[in-house]
Amino acid sequence: MSGIWSASVERSRDGAISVGGVDVRTLAAEYGTPLYVVDEADMRARAAAFRDHFAAAFGRKGAKVDVYYASKAFLSSQVAHWMREEDLCVDVASLGELEIALRGGVSPAHIGLHGNNKSDAELRRALEVGVGRIIVDSFTEIAVLDALAGELSVVAPVMVRVTTGVHAGGHEYIATSHEDQKFGLSLATGAAYEALIACHDAANLNLLGIHTHIGSQILSLAAFQESAERMLGLRGAFAADTGTEFPEVDLGGGYAIAYTENAEALPTREAAYGIADAVEAAVAKVGGSWPRFSIEPGRAIAGPAGMTLYTVGVVKQVQLEDGGGRQYVAVDGGMSDNMRTITYQADYTATIASRLSDAEPAQSRVVGKHCESGDIVVRDVGLPHDIARGDLLAVPATGAYGRSMANNYNAALRPAVVSVKDGVSRVLVRRDTIADLLALDVAPD
Ligand code: LLP
Repeated sequence: MSGIWSASVERSRDGAISVGGVDVRTLAAEYGTPLYVVDEADMRARAAAFRDHFAAAFGRKGAKVDVYYASKAFLSSQVAHWMREEDLCVDVASLGELEIALRGGVSPAHIGLHGNNKSDAELRRALEVGVGRIIVDSFTEIAVLDALAGELSVVAPVMVRVTTGVHAGGHEYIATSHEDQKFGLSLATGAAYEALIACHDAANLNLLGIHTHIGSQILSLAAFQESAERMLGLRGAFAADTGTEFPEVDLGGGYAIAYTENAEALPTREAAYGIADAVEAAVAKVGGSWPRFSIEPGRAIAGPAGMTLYTVGVVKQVQLEDGGGRQYVAVDGGMSDNMRTITYQADYTATIASRLSDAEPAQSRVVGKHCESGDIVVRDVGLPHDIARGDLLAVPATGAYGRSMANNYNAALRPAVVSVKDGVSRVLVRRDTIADLLALDVAPD
């Protein structure tokens, strides 16, 4: 199958798809649909590619890079464990993500905690377990964390989240380093610099360095390069004024993946060497030593490794105003398991997974079963005219931000996530049950 499918996806002679050596019909029969399926070997390989290409590209200059898996893309304790086995660290952005990573056996030293509005409980837990870095996002947080660390008699390792002004990425809601948004401290206004001074001077904080994340679905190497240059400029300016060269610089995540056949991805190797070259030029300009770098890919590790399996229900032919027609293929999930189409107008594609069809393709839209007309999974895709109730439909590249943004709209039961490898499947996250829903509901007296 093409590059938007995980590496082990194949179509067998009878036309059905298999992944990780397991036939999708077997998965659907065993676990039900909708179902998220993660190709374990593929996900590990993508993690290893970041580790190895960045190690090689930066290693040429004698510099080190730590890869933090951005766990918001998809986290389960088994996934956290895989990431550590691949020698990645884990970035978490909430107490929940922190607890799952810890359950996966990730040592706190290998965890970074993010968040623009961390609660006292989150900061306290992070300090108590001893996370390796806390990325501070405001002056309020710097003060609160310093006080909490003092109270607990620990020193908090911190990085300052910098808004570099580099605007990159796909949809406005996933671009994160332009000025007019909630994250970070501005480089342009001097807030980032002041925050560095505040951390440097704080009694109970240890300033590790600076962090930035410029957005998601970034195809432009130039954007990463520009942001790296600005970050090193800030480090240089701070060193010149204070005599302190903080040791670390984190350049964030955002490496683009392809969701459809015609879309582009940012190749990991190209990104590694391109960013290393930009850093080299910036270090030459600013002077001083090379910091230790880190990056935080999420989607580029989890996204292409996952697919969603649905069962087709109702198929409707709808007449359009221009005289054409559209085939509406309704599946047993929708915006409760894939929020990305409605949120970012994201494009996906789909194929019948349980058989081959030689029927003519019809202009089709894959929709869900929710009470909302925007409940679209795939806006435009050619699907055969003979697609029918009971067919399995597979949507590729849903491994990132599928399950992690899933919700219970219409009291939907969020799908299970299973991993497959060498012909064996395992549950990573089990499906919600009606009992789970009723357990949260408080019944009348
Ligand atoms: N690091 C930080 C600080 C982040 O905020 C993010 C994503 C990442 C790393 C990972 O970005 P990635 O490599 O996965 O693009 N829910 C949206 C994306 C929002 C991501 C927010 N932060 C989506 O479905 O596209």
